[in-house]
Amino acid sequence: MVNGNDLHETDKIVAAENPIKSPGLYPDPEKLLVRDTIDTAILKRLTGRSCISVAQFDKEFVLELCKFAALLEATEIASSHPLDGKIVITAFFEASTRTRLSFESAALRLDARVITISDGKTTGAAKGESLADIGEMLNAYGDLVVMRHTATNAVEQILEKLRLPLINAGNGTGEHPTQALADWYAILKWNPQLKGIVSSDEKINLGILGTPGSMRAVRSFLEMSLLFKENIRQISIVSEMADPLGAILSEKLKHEHIKPVITNDINDVLSDLDVIYMNSIAYLGDGYRTLDTRYRLHKNSQLRKNAVVLHPLARLDELSTTLDDTSHNLYFTQAHGAVFIRQALLITLLDRFDRLPDDIPVV
Ligand code: CP
Repeated sequence: MVNGNDLHETDKIVAAENPIKSPGLYPDPEKLLVRDTIDTAILKRLTGRSCISVAQFDKEFVLELCKFAALLEATEIASSHPLDGKIVITAFFEASTRTRLSFESAALRLDARVITISDGKTTGAAKGESLADIGEMLNAYGDLVVMRHTATNAVEQILEKLRLPLINAGNGTGEHPTQALADWYAILKWNPQLKGIVSSDEKINLGILGTPGSMRAVRSFLEMSLLFKENIRQISIVSEMADPLGAILSEKLKHEHIKPVITNDINDVLSDLDVIYMNSIAYLGDGYRTLDTRYRLHKNSQLRKNAVVLHPLARLDELSTTLDDTSHNLYFTQAHGAVFIRQALLITLLDRFDRLPDDIPVV
């Protein structure tokens, strides 16, 4: 088994050496770019459109967006002001640390301006205003909306009247498609060979500690992972629930001829996994719940030597801070890289490729 750690021993940059001085594994984004240009024709399939669901993406688009993100991470382009004159509206009707702030950081670093709803209670929603009517107002205030909401049908509601491109930043138990982009951006930096088709002994064993049918980030991650199924030997799901996938996801996996291992005993699979995705917080019904908290990872867990752990965060006790200083920690690079994948998405949706510096290899 060859995986990203074997390939990139030098990537094990410790806290003092990586640019933001966080612990964990920081693969070099330039390894995604070797002899590559960015094909904007592939990216422009999404220009001017909304980004609602992983179902909108194919593998070609995800790879091109990840390469573009790597280029943005490896290159200083802020001085060309690619989003100058654009206004990004972040409308968060549900709590967020990473998604709202990384979108705002992404936009501001590209010289867009940002207006924000950080709490739905500060809008007319507190007085009973409909999301559709809020959407009608946002049409006049900016160029693109990033929205998170507790209601799974919030996307349909706001799109009744919103005509700007909408990025779904998490809708109830629905989806979190840009989280899945950040997840796979981290995985592809860890193991750039997964861009192509790897040999059978280079395939990865993917494990999920969580309940995809109830957790939007885990659902979106699993759905995007299906785009890379040729490179995945086995998908294992460790969950407290008897049916962690639910009917729709089960049908999708069946359609892709994937038979996951489903178990409630972490010891059945943990030592075989190369990539472990975990989460415990779900917004169910009218509030946050924790699921699968009995599956805990820490520095003494029986992980493969080269296994990497991803987590959308926020974490609770399931992910021990004792893993932070190990090379299993891909979750900080996953979170920090989200700024660049979101920059790539903003430039794509707002069609600002023509504002990139001349020496950027885009075609
Ligand atoms: N990953 C994620 O969605 O984090 P936040 O809830 O902090 O935005």
